[in-house]
Amino acid sequence: VIRLVQKDTQFSELLQGVDYSSLFVLCDENTATHCYQSDWFPPHSLINVPAGEESKSFQTVERVLSQLKDQGADRHSLLLNLGGGVVTDLGGFVASIYMRGIRFINIPTSLLGMVDAAIGGKTGINFSGIKNMVGVFNQPLYTWLHRPFLKTLPQQELRSGWVESLKHGLLKSEILYNKVVHWRDETPSIELILESASYKQDLVTMDFMESNQRKKLNLGHTFGHAIESETGLPHGYAVLIGMWCEIRLTAPVNRQTERITEYLKESAQLFMEDRLPIFEDKTRILDLIKKDKKNKDGMIQVVCWRDFDYVHPIQVVSEKDILQTLSNYNVLFHG
Ligand SMILES: NC(=O)c1ccc[n+]([C@@H]2O[C@H](COP(=O)([O-])OP(=O)(O)OC[C@H]3O[C@@H](n4cnc5c(N)ncnc54)[C@H](O)[C@@H]3O)[C@@H](O)[C@H]2O)c1
Repeated sequence: VIRLVQKDTQFSELLQGVDYSSLFVLCDENTATHCYQSDWFPPHSLINVPAGEESKSFQTVERVLSQLKDQGADRHSLLLNLGGGVVTDLGGFVASIYMRGIRFINIPTSLLGMVDAAIGGKTGINFSGIKNMVGVFNQPLYTWLHRPFLKTLPQQELRSGWVESLKHGLLKSEILYNKVVHWRDETPSIELILESASYKQDLVTMDFMESNQRKKLNLGHTFGHAIESETGLPHGYAVLIGMWCEIRLTAPVNRQTERITEYLKESAQLFMEDRLPIFEDKTRILDLIKKDKKNKDGMIQVVCWRDFDYVHPIQVVSEKDILQTLSNYNVLFHG
């Protein structure tokens, strides 16, 4: 359930109807500085982890579990995950396994968290160099959206979140897509954040365990996760390249509709501005794609986008075509 938090002080009020024995707030070092104020919440213990993707690891899971235990958390404790996608993925996972599961609430502080990561109940960590390799599906009790957190979010992170909303636009409707394209460098309105977040929430409600329709949300993520692991680019930037590659791959030049050509051109413009990387060693990206957890029986699957609301959740693609697409990307953007 998504709820809007209108004032900083409202967090305590919202917790009034929730029954728990003790309260814990999980932050990373940046959200502890910019988004946390102890008097916003009823009495609680604060747990801090380092900022960044490296915190999605077994080592950090163990540290957070130890702190919960040492500070007396029991099965009725409640965990508030106050942070970006790293904190909500990690905190959701820890909450899911501590004493076989305690309840948690996500309070996303990054745009990517608000429109995507904090919604839908996918929790987890990276393992053996592979993104989100270990985790569970488990819904938060609530996701609370508080737009003022975005004031301190670095511009690059704002743009990273924008990409996931752009994806929602591509999947849902031309109207949403056009709205999103135009707010790229601004902080979006709460209405737009909510529209994007609700689109994901609706798909998740329809297909929680990702057996069909929810798979559409993986658009750009087969390539994107591999690119993110290989280059260390922020998630959204990697997904932007991933969406270009997957749309280009599933609609080769001779089968491109006007809409696809237009999208590929438009996103190319964005790449130029962001000076996105060239892939020197394409086989390393292919190797990572081959380990993607969405693959089935050794077959690599991507989402196939043809037009707004005309998306096949799965298309099997060959290794040869993947390498060719990465070459096309290199040639087109770095000639
Ligand atoms: N579970 C899901 O469904 C899902 C979906 C998409 C992405 N993800 C995951 O989310 C992660 C990416 O999320 P992210 O982009 O939010 O990354 P993040 O959590 O690393 O946040 C990005 C950076 O911004 C900082 N930050 C966050 N909020 C801030 C604020 N208000 N002010 C100042 N600094 C702030 C963080 O400390 C961090 O340095 C990835 O691990 C990705 O795999 C999960």
